[in-house]
Amino acid sequence: MTSKPAPHDTAIHPEAASSGISKGLTNYGDRGFSLFLRKAFIKGAGYTDKALERPVIGITNTGSAYNPCHGNMPQLMEAVKRGILMAGGLPMDFPTISLHESFSAPTSMYLRNLMSMDTEELLRAQPMDGVVLIGGCDKTVPAQLMGAASVRLPAVQLVTGSMLTGSHRSERVGACTDCRRYWGKFRAEEIDAEEIADVNNQLVASVGTCSVAGTASTMACIAEALGISVPGSASPPAVTADRIRAAERSGEVAVHMARAGLTIDRILTPAAFENAVRVLLAMGGSTNAIVHLAAMAGRLGYALDLKALDAMSRDTPVLLDLKPSGDHYMEDFHAAGGMPTLLRELKPLLHLDALTVTGRTLGEELEAAGPGFAQSVVKTLKAPLYPQGGIAVLHGNLAPGGAIIKQSAANPALMEHEGRAVVFENAEDLAARIDAPDLDVRADDILVLKHIGPKGAAMPEAGYLPIPKKLAAQGVKDMVRISDGRMSGTAFGTIVLHVTPEAAVGGPLAWVQTGDRIRLSVRERLIEWQVSDAELAARQSAQPVVEPTAARGYAHLFRKTVMQADRGADFDFLAATECKGSIPRN
Ligand code: FES
Repeated sequence: MTSKPAPHDTAIHPEAASSGISKGLTNYGDRGFSLFLRKAFIKGAGYTDKALERPVIGITNTGSAYNPCHGNMPQLMEAVKRGILMAGGLPMDFPTISLHESFSAPTSMYLRNLMSMDTEELLRAQPMDGVVLIGGCDKTVPAQLMGAASVRLPAVQLVTGSMLTGSHRSERVGACTDCRRYWGKFRAEEIDAEEIADVNNQLVASVGTCSVAGTASTMACIAEALGISVPGSASPPAVTADRIRAAERSGEVAVHMARAGLTIDRILTPAAFENAVRVLLAMGGSTNAIVHLAAMAGRLGYALDLKALDAMSRDTPVLLDLKPSGDHYMEDFHAAGGMPTLLRELKPLLHLDALTVTGRTLGEELEAAGPGFAQSVVKTLKAPLYPQGGIAVLHGNLAPGGAIIKQSAANPALMEHEGRAVVFENAEDLAARIDAPDLDVRADDILVLKHIGPKGAAMPEAGYLPIPKKLAAQGVKDMVRISDGRMSGTAFGTIVLHVTPEAAVGGPLAWVQTGDRIRLSVRERLIEWQVSDAELAARQSAQPVVEPTAARGYAHLFRKTVMQADRGADFDFLAATECKGSIPRN
């Protein structure tokens, strides 16, 4: 006599289960055996059949001794698991690559795509109905969203939260705008070795991500604007109860999303990306976010249109008074109400019908957040911190594919400037000569650094060229600087970045020489190099560009397949195969 199998008995009827623990079986050529074996192994960890019937929610564990920005991972994991269990799911955490800015040589950007591949393939290979992605430090959130976008599972992004600020000789300090400011003072011999050592103990006062509008804070706010994080979860500092509650809520929401089949591609729509661009511009956010947004959109079949983004910049003022464009830190933004306060102010510019992870629209979530209260960190559209968006897009014969400048953190006196180029061929050349006493350089020159683009050097944050020591000692604080690399979101100055195409693939930058004249006009969105066609042709034939390659390993893959900054510096084979259009839409 045969009895009807119990609902959980999927080992006998694996075809009945295409979700939960039975999803994506290992191929042994016998599906029944595959599931039987899987369950035998997981039961070795003490799970019951009843537990294994639940929707499975994966949690990416990016805790690492090398990553203090993720130092609250154990507390977050515990809270996410609690939220998942409360909603009737089964939490399954697993490790992935973790990247910290200061512990990734030669640059974390070199490894972002590797982390995205790791995340993507583990979400695919392991059985889960949804996932909570826990990231924080600069490249981790983009990598996770790029990977998850390619898999199209229900996904919630949870960030680790910002670090607390410290105090140096009664001045409030935080990473990393103040790190650069103090290092600049030390180079200019305004402070001594003892003081620079003292402040080193105070700049990072707790675990968590950088406390200003660096890339981590920018990506946290962008994730909330995209609707891929739970409302209000971008701003709580890493060590607060609010951060833990956001983690619990993220776990709960992931279960509801799994049950409703609310996949990431239903949230990351063109409208959501446009909301994210508005927030990037209105917060004076990191220029790096442009590269990451391009890569994320590319995974879903959308190309980032830099000219359309610039058009949005002209009517999106900077409202968030956060360093480096303003004066405050992330903990102040949180006390001022966090993202709901900013989004409420930006309402006329947003798509309020965009869906969020909660299943409600952005507009519905804002209604639920209430009317707000008096505060001074988020300015109003009528009285903004800066009249246009934080980032402007430049074009011209030096950057046919575009370049960008963080105009809200630039020196207004240098934004319309023509000067003589002082050229460094690569990062090594810069390091060797920038502080040389005999360097022929004046304050009104333009510093140019080549070969730090995606293919040339994996696009390090070396675009923030130091002021030559002899000029710094004379009190020069800013100069126009141009490169095909990136800079940290915590940095400031009149700095032109992401020059596309880069020098290493034969972009015009490759042939600029010391003594050439360059004109920057942010008002005209122009970056122009004064060179005749005949002179350019002569330089090109005298010095043909040979694209760099690598003989083996990940470096080989990277150099062979990495795309330019306007395509997010993603690998060409990771972008979506179908093209759905461009964002922002005109
Ligand atoms: Fe991790 Fe700044 S170093 S967020």
